Amino acid sequence: MKLSRDELKNLMKNKLIKAGLSEEHADMTAEILTWSDERGYHSHGAVRVEYYSERIAKGGITTDPKFEWKETGPCSAIYEGDNGCGYVASTFAMEKTIEMAKKSGIAVTGIRNISHSGSIGYYTEMAAKQDLVAIAFCQSDPMAVPFGGTEPYYGTNPISFAAPTADDRTVVFDMATTVQAWGKILDKRSRHEAIPDTWAVDEKGQPVTDSSLVNALLPIAGAKGYGLMMMVDVFAGVLLGVPFGKHVSSMYHDLSKGRDLGQMFIVMDPSRFVGLDAFKKSMSQVLDELGEMPAAEGYGKVYYPGERAVMRRDKAYETGGVEIVDEIYDYLVSDDVHYDRYDHKNRFAE
Ligand code: NAI
Repeated sequence: MKLSRDELKNLMKNKLIKAGLSEEHADMTAEILTWSDERGYHSHGAVRVEYYSERIAKGGITTDPKFEWKETGPCSAIYEGDNGCGYVASTFAMEKTIEMAKKSGIAVTGIRNISHSGSIGYYTEMAAKQDLVAIAFCQSDPMAVPFGGTEPYYGTNPISFAAPTADDRTVVFDMATTVQAWGKILDKRSRHEAIPDTWAVDEKGQPVTDSSLVNALLPIAGAKGYGLMMMVDVFAGVLLGVPFGKHVSSMYHDLSKGRDLGQMFIVMDPSRFVGLDAFKKSMSQVLDELGEMPAAEGYGKVYYPGERAVMRRDKAYETGGVEIVDEIYDYLVSDDVHYDRYDHKNRFAE
């Protein structure tokens, strides 16, 4: 089913309102979910609405959170999320971080006690659109083995960087630190298909190709990816005094409880370094040089991070809208808030 931007956003917004979010919070959340779906990040778009609705309806997302911005220095702050909607807390926190970075040159914000916040590239892009450079780190529920380990300890702990250019291009690098998302394993399992041996391990920590035997995901790039996912948890967890490592709450464990997740934003003003115009001009030069490079055989072009996402968005609207799978569309247009499908589920058993 292909939907226009407004149709998709409104369907998601209405469902979230029905589940219990305020009009403002539902609108902000639906905007980011639409941002993800239109860029082809379907793992973080409409597919999540039913889960969020169940969590909201069961009390695991505070619908009238007491958000609090606490400055801890001229360029540092804590944003207390009160287990409100992660998308909303993250957007407000990034707005405050941008303000502080413009004033102080750099701003570091630790966001504490939030629920899932989706594609974190949305938040770094917010800063880049205001001529700032940004980094975001975010915790997620334990499902990846440390390098050489047998048990899930870290989440898919994403990292995002964003930077402006002198033209309308924005670099948005945004990735999970696992080779694949858990959703890809579930998809293969449901089709009884094998997976490449680089994606996941079994209970003994050995690489598996049988998708039914997966016990944990593998970090990207071996020990290097493990180091990255660990440091994401150091910045977004240990440093903020929220649960860390294997103590991070599970997405599907108890939907009546808040998730207490942590996230960190670091935003810098290029005018405090090389100068804004020089920075943006050089960034445009970098993207031009990369884009003009002859591509290796089998690759159409050298893309900059985020370029293909914007191309997917533009193509979707040129060809009739954003593709949403029928089952999700049927749920979005139904009268049901949720189908009680996610609470107390063990993701490895599904
Ligand atoms: P991905 O693998 O699709 O892309 C990762 C990065 O590589 C992107 O910046 C993309 O622009 C770049 N890239 C991909 N192919 C490229 C190419 N051919 N040339 C140049 N650059 C290329 O993303 P991934 O890792 O699957 O993450 C998807 C989304 O999931 C992200 O938005 C991430 O923030 C989100 N996420 C959120 C989590 C949370 O708990 N909040 C947990 C994990 C992921």
